[in-house]
Amino acid sequence: MSKLFEFSTIKGMSLANRFVRSATWEGMAGDDGSVTPALMACMDQLAEGQVGLIISSHAYISPEGQAGPKQLGIYKDDLIDGLKQMTDAVHRHGSKIVVQMSHSGCSANPKITGQTALGPSCVEGISPSACREMGSDDIKNLIEAFEQAAKRAREAGFDGVQLHAAHGYLLNQFISPLFNKRTDGYGGSVEHRYQVVKEVLKKVRSIVGESFPVLIKLNSQDFLEGGLTLEDSLFIGSLLEKDGIDAIELSGGTMRSGKNSPSRMGISGEDKEAYFSEAARAFKKSIKVPLILVGGLRSFSVAEKVIEQGIADYISMSRPFIREPGLVKHWQSGDRRKAFCLSDNQCFGPAMAGEGIYCAMDRKEKNEVKQA
Ligand SMILES: Cc1cc2nc3c(=O)[nH]c(=O)nc-3n(C[C@H](O)[C@H](O)[C@H](O)COP(=O)(O)O)c2cc1C
Repeated sequence: MSKLFEFSTIKGMSLANRFVRSATWEGMAGDDGSVTPALMACMDQLAEGQVGLIISSHAYISPEGQAGPKQLGIYKDDLIDGLKQMTDAVHRHGSKIVVQMSHSGCSANPKITGQTALGPSCVEGISPSACREMGSDDIKNLIEAFEQAAKRAREAGFDGVQLHAAHGYLLNQFISPLFNKRTDGYGGSVEHRYQVVKEVLKKVRSIVGESFPVLIKLNSQDFLEGGLTLEDSLFIGSLLEKDGIDAIELSGGTMRSGKNSPSRMGISGEDKEAYFSEAARAFKKSIKVPLILVGGLRSFSVAEKVIEQGIADYISMSRPFIREPGLVKHWQSGDRRKAFCLSDNQCFGPAMAGEGIYCAMDRKEKNEVKQA
């Protein structure tokens, strides 16, 4: 049997295989961030497709931290019932589900939130929207908001939580020397820039308890001049391990990184897949907590190599599951063809238009077949 279908555990969370659905904003929640029938159906399909661990869309932990329309929320108790229905739907198929808790910081969308975006600092030409530098009360509120969101996650039946510290969102902004120019205990040295993440992790741990998995999605680097480097990220990885993180999902880049970052587009050959592998190898040398690799994984053979060579412990994918929520099931049944995903990012369009993500190419091809 392929190692990809081995049973494993992350802090007691039992997983039927080594496939993870990486957090994906579906644009399917209600305007207040609530779970809708469309979002439930999306989760149900992924679980039915035997994805071992599903990570939800980034869910905003407080209203001013919302990034996009129809984004999932976990900022108030009224949302728990809907979230519970969603976790129940996933559990019925034997999959596990972790919620990605997020605050967008200066990448929040004031047009949606009606509030000024907050950031560790306001850096002209870097912060994407007008923002306000967070004061000590804002930081206290942020840490409490993560704590309360984690409490709700547990009540809603999630199997764990993931802190979003990647892709230029608030926790990434704090650890990045490009976004964080603070001169207090939350800025400056890498230990100080990590301080907010450390306090969030500690608070979250105190509310969910020792046996509840707490994961993090971390940038291996920002791919921006003056941004987070691999060296700093590796050091943060070792601090996270010391502070009790249960797994690290390794990603990289921000919305501003552009051509500096390995391209998420056009993963046409195996050589372009798994583009954070080198960073993953470096992480595996310095930490022992389970490592989840995301970014351009498309072929069964590459995924298998990543596990067999010990580059990472889990294979995480986002876009392939938009087109083929049943991909893992196909692979498990012996049909090992490469994912159909073209990595063209056309899936963002429908979500931005308020229709919820779908693979535009898949829909086009199906329409063409219908018309023929
Ligand atoms: C439509 C869309 C929405 C995404 N939303 C999130 C998100 O909510 N949180 C997150 O950490 N990453 C998000 N990502 C990034 C993916 O999780 C993943 O890191 C990236 O797409 C690379 O993986 P892939 O090549 O398997 O798609 C999103 C990606 C796409 C295409």
